[in-house]
Amino acid sequence: MVTTTEDTTVVIIGAGVAGLTLGNFLLKSGIDCVVLEKQSRQYVENRQRAGTIDSRGVRMFREWGLEDVTKDKDAASEITGGIWIDEVMYPMDFDDDNISDSVLCPQQVLVRNLTDAFLRAGGDLRFEARDVTPQDLLGERALVHYRSTDGTAKAISCDFVAGCDGFHGISRASIPDDVLTRYSHVYTFSWLSILAEVPANPSGMAIHDRGLAGMIPRGANASRLYIQCPAGDTPEQWPDERIWSELQARFGTEVPPGRIVDKRIVPLRCEVFSPMSYGNLHLLGDAAHIVPPMSAKGIHLALFDTEVFARAVIKKVQEGDAGLLDSYSDTCLSHIWNYQAFAVWITELMHNAGDASYEGEFRKQLARAELERQFTSPAANRLFSELSAGLL
Ligand code: APR
Repeated sequence: MVTTTEDTTVVIIGAGVAGLTLGNFLLKSGIDCVVLEKQSRQYVENRQRAGTIDSRGVRMFREWGLEDVTKDKDAASEITGGIWIDEVMYPMDFDDDNISDSVLCPQQVLVRNLTDAFLRAGGDLRFEARDVTPQDLLGERALVHYRSTDGTAKAISCDFVAGCDGFHGISRASIPDDVLTRYSHVYTFSWLSILAEVPANPSGMAIHDRGLAGMIPRGANASRLYIQCPAGDTPEQWPDERIWSELQARFGTEVPPGRIVDKRIVPLRCEVFSPMSYGNLHLLGDAAHIVPPMSAKGIHLALFDTEVFARAVIKKVQEGDAGLLDSYSDTCLSHIWNYQAFAVWITELMHNAGDASYEGEFRKQLARAELERQFTSPAANRLFSELSAGLL
């Protein structure tokens, strides 16, 4: 039995990057919202993910008066690195003005900073909200049911529901199957993703017959390591010694080992769900799309959706104009498909060199030519540097 029914303008489901950024934007615009998060604060603030905010994201936070949320006191101040092909290093140029705004900021630090900013501004953020269920999505107002930590059933009536609950959330599942189309592509290879207590040395990515490898700094004395492996591999197949010798083989240079604190398999996939709106429910971020991690654009897309949606809600609430809300899905999808095209291109470019059945050596030469072009053409260099800054 529902014991309490409250009222707000926007219920935000999920306190990840999309949900918390949206909450902050709405509060700054004087629009009421409640954020419902399934996990505990401690869990959310320590969940390790991507590491960088690109220049668009940094500029966006600055424009909304939230520049401080991108600051990580432990981050390296300088972005350096290169790409190795068959043991030859191509240094990356990070001096371009267009990328000078990109910052190293692990996602859990951004989430922590956004949470602090939201609570400081008086935001309503409820952790450990169980069984969140949006209803009446085609009605005048939606109703979001959930159970609080003490088991009490609650309901919040609202004008809009923002589904910011990631790829495995429940928001998207509230849209009937015959309304939603899924576009999906899963690669035959995955990444073994490793967190190690060692500086990234070397720092960058390697393309090699044996497959892609990466060593990306995460602060002064930690790094995220990536090793391309067949889809279906398990972390148990990768004992620590195998990881260090494989990195050494793929970079073709000495890689000093360190303590490994986490290993997991990350599948490489592209997903897009369309439309992103259904009545009062709007999907944002990973709830609506996934780009392969090689593109380093997951955060970018989540932040793009968030800004488009925030402006649309503000326009409707303050001026009664629903135009931006009506076009929310189309606006975001056209941006997303551009980034999917980019993500597929860069994923294909950087992988497959080790797969003889996929013209491995031929692919590698294409990658070499393409990367050389990126480093010599100013326009292409800008694009590629921005991407690389996202990765590093
Ligand atoms: N009810 C409430 N909250 C939920 C539910 C649910 N049923 N299911 C999931 N959540 C919460 C998760 O615990 C998480 O905190 O929703 C949040 C979703 O956050 P993210 O997965 O970080 O998704 P998003 O905000 O879209 O951020 C996208 O994260 O994975 C990266 O590459 C991705 O950088 C991109 C960014």
